[in-house]
Amino acid sequence: MEEIIKIEGIVKNYGKHKVHDGLDLAVQRGECFTLLGPSGCGKTVLLRLIAGFEQPDAGKISIGDTVVTDPAGGVNFSPDSRGIGMVFQDYAVWPHMSVFDNVTYPLKLAGVSKDEMLARGMETIAMVGMEGLDKRLPSELSGGQQQRVALARALIAKPSLMLLDEPLTNLDANLREEMRFEIKELQRKLDITVFYVTHDQEVALAISDRIAIMDDVGKIRQIGSPWDIFESPADPFVFSFMGIANFLPVKRSGKDYLVGNGSQIINWEKPSNDSSDWVAGFRPSDVEIAHGGDGLRGVIKRASFLGATMDYLVDIDGTHLRTSVETHEALAKDLMFKDDEPCVISFRNLLWFDAESLKGIEKQLEGKGAMA
Ligand SMILES: Nc1ncnc2c1ncn2[C@@H]1O[C@H](COP(=O)(O)OP(=O)(O)OP(=O)(O)O)[C@@H](O)[C@H]1O
Ligand SMILES: [Mg+2]
Repeated sequence: MEEIIKIEGIVKNYGKHKVHDGLDLAVQRGECFTLLGPSGCGKTVLLRLIAGFEQPDAGKISIGDTVVTDPAGGVNFSPDSRGIGMVFQDYAVWPHMSVFDNVTYPLKLAGVSKDEMLARGMETIAMVGMEGLDKRLPSELSGGQQQRVALARALIAKPSLMLLDEPLTNLDANLREEMRFEIKELQRKLDITVFYVTHDQEVALAISDRIAIMDDVGKIRQIGSPWDIFESPADPFVFSFMGIANFLPVKRSGKDYLVGNGSQIINWEKPSNDSSDWVAGFRPSDVEIAHGGDGLRGVIKRASFLGATMDYLVDIDGTHLRTSVETHEALAKDLMFKDDEPCVISFRNLLWFDAESLKGIEKQLEGKGAMA
């Protein structure tokens, strides 16, 4: 595998604020690589460093075989000499220019002939599904169509590398869902490398060959396939970032593992070493909920109908946990619970985390999971 982007020891400070402090990262040619991290962790700053709109305080960036950024060696290639297409977070399209003029603007700057501009402009407009709209002004387009204009403008110079910064945030849910498959399709068809930046884990799962998870201080926590990241999270941060996460404190007592106030035993394969403080991590769909039988006894604190699923917040000895049941299953199996009803939960899947590993990520967990 050949690296198309190589980031080595990047340091970037704004005054006293350290955004990146020795970051290393490599993207392989031809892959769709997603950098996923919370707001403010330094994703846009990193893309701007790669594209050449910002300079790091230290470190090196290479594109293919060329070192394009190396302040120590006095190297700083201009953005337009890096051969990169970029779609910015706010996807600024020029309001006074037609779709055609917006899309072909990079060719105009490059001094390409009128005939070639017309041919490539129309071809690229068609590629993003905007045939017939070339004469419109941005104000006559929907948000999603404006997004396509920005995408076409980045594609027209036929870059082998595209940097996409949250290009779908301003779109409504249905359009976002559709556009992410289109981006993936374009990436395959044009055989380009995509470096995609987002805080939306569903987009990342849908389009990526590999995902890197960055935490709020710009540290990479895990790099892997969507499957690896979702099924084998490296730590509680990654686990909680990839979806609704429950963390249930568990204490070892002899052979038993006890939850909450110690009155209930958790029945699951034991963790791999015998420290005494553990946290059981699981997602709402990892739980089976019932009226009785084996499992942890709790009480429904809140029953919510979410359409396809029923969402139940369950109180187990003072810890609140999010659980879910598909609505049709809940109806078929008499699992439509009401507030304050007793229930029993058992696990389909559970991950053990060392209680220590949750320290320092309380901020990220706020409002995300159901940690009590
Ligand atoms: N020009 C700048 N001057 C000072 N601070 C900056 C500048 N640009 C970015 N920052 C700071 O750097 C940090 C990282 O910003 P960045 O825009 O990369 O976040 P992000 O991960 O893209 O977040 P989001 O998901 O909200 O877009 C933030 O704390 C931000 O305030
Ligand atoms: Mg950003």
